[in-house]
Amino acid sequence: MLEEQLRKIEEEVCSWGDTVHYASVPPIFKKCKGSFLWDNKDQQYLDWQMWYSACNFGYGNKFIIDALKKQLDELPQLACQYLHEDKIILAKEIADITNKTVGMAGRVQFNVGGSSAVEDALKLARNYTNKQFTFAFYGGYHGRTLGATAVTSSARYRKNYGHFGDRAIFIPYPYCFYCFYKMKPEDCNLYCAQMFERLFDTEYFSIIDKQKDPEPGMIIFEAVQGTGGYAKPPEGYFRKIADVCKKYGILMIDDEIQMGFFRTGKMWAIEHFGITPDIIVFGKAFTNGLNPLSGIIARKDLMAHDIWGPGMTHSTFSSNTLGTASGLAVMELIKRENFEEKANHIGEYLSKQLKEIENKYPVIGYVDNLGAAIRVEITYPDGKTPNRELCGKIFDTSLNPNIQASDGKRYGLILDQGGWYKSTFTIAPNLYSTDEELDLGVELFEKIIKKFPQN
Ligand SMILES: Cc1ncc(COP(=O)(O)O)c(C=O)c1O
Repeated sequence: MLEEQLRKIEEEVCSWGDTVHYASVPPIFKKCKGSFLWDNKDQQYLDWQMWYSACNFGYGNKFIIDALKKQLDELPQLACQYLHEDKIILAKEIADITNKTVGMAGRVQFNVGGSSAVEDALKLARNYTNKQFTFAFYGGYHGRTLGATAVTSSARYRKNYGHFGDRAIFIPYPYCFYCFYKMKPEDCNLYCAQMFERLFDTEYFSIIDKQKDPEPGMIIFEAVQGTGGYAKPPEGYFRKIADVCKKYGILMIDDEIQMGFFRTGKMWAIEHFGITPDIIVFGKAFTNGLNPLSGIIARKDLMAHDIWGPGMTHSTFSSNTLGTASGLAVMELIKRENFEEKANHIGEYLSKQLKEIENKYPVIGYVDNLGAAIRVEITYPDGKTPNRELCGKIFDTSLNPNIQASDGKRYGLILDQGGWYKSTFTIAPNLYSTDEELDLGVELFEKIIKKFPQN
């Protein structure tokens, strides 16, 4: 069908409520492979976002697709109340790697989509603590179901949903470039973590009662915020938060939906920060985006069968066999290949070149990375004031698949606009990216930046 016809139908019958629709004219894609996408007119795009890290291991990854095809032939469907070997082994794989990496001996349960897994984590924590309230972070994103929205900080996303009862108590995340307290990480002495601890000083700060029993029973966080801008917390921050949580019996729910599965160079991003959470939530790259399977792993006592019994949560599709086959293939891939090395190489290789670009163009305020989670702050020429408008224009321009590259071909570049001010490019390349593909991305990115005035 002609593109104009498709767009007309889309305008008429598709809701825009289920997408962000950031691009003024979103491309219509028809093919993907490795690090690239092709649109209806066969125009090629390099993807620097990989579906918000749902596709860390490359589009059309043959190893995972083959496992899925095999499952299609053998056990493509099964009601979740019955068992199948893949479900059990997959849970064991997650339990083993979590024990090895963060020292948590846990049980695993599955669900569909990240937001539902977040709901499960919140329910589990409430069930265990008998408490309703949750701490969460400014800039945190946990999904769009009602519960997940209530612990997501954007007032726009939360408007009319989660304002009462369930709304989290939000605290500043240590996004040092845009520090909430306007301090400098060199000499702030983790002021934001100190302020968190201070909330527990007296009942008049609204958190504890006279017995020093806090009203909130849990804190939900992303070790590195995804949508919030890929900012990495300073050394010691999470250890300090964990100390306070331990002291007051607050469960730590680590949302690894976007940063898990080696985006930051580790299985779980929290590994960088030396603490053991009580619950970890995962999704996205768990199946390399081939199936919405998600899940949580929690301390065994939280999920003991007598206190978290059958049906505490349930979805018809929770341990669907196509999802578990893809998940098992991902776990196998992780054992066979060194994704820590791959992610670190990508991060170092790209950020070195992006920092050179930063030095040339005043509108690039800052470049940083943790593994292959790379961020570029777009600012006014002062190098500090966030420039959302320019970031949006660069984003739109990059989607035009007409950028001439030195290999003689033309490409578009897929970026994502995030951060507290929507002025940050959060860059997440395919973990199998070759150096040539990384060079191509840098070349395209610089060509786009050059088009805009620098003063
Ligand atoms: C950290 C985090 N948590 C939760 C979610 C929600 O996951 P889903 O979109 O699969 O519901 C996302 C999605 O972007 C995410 O990045």
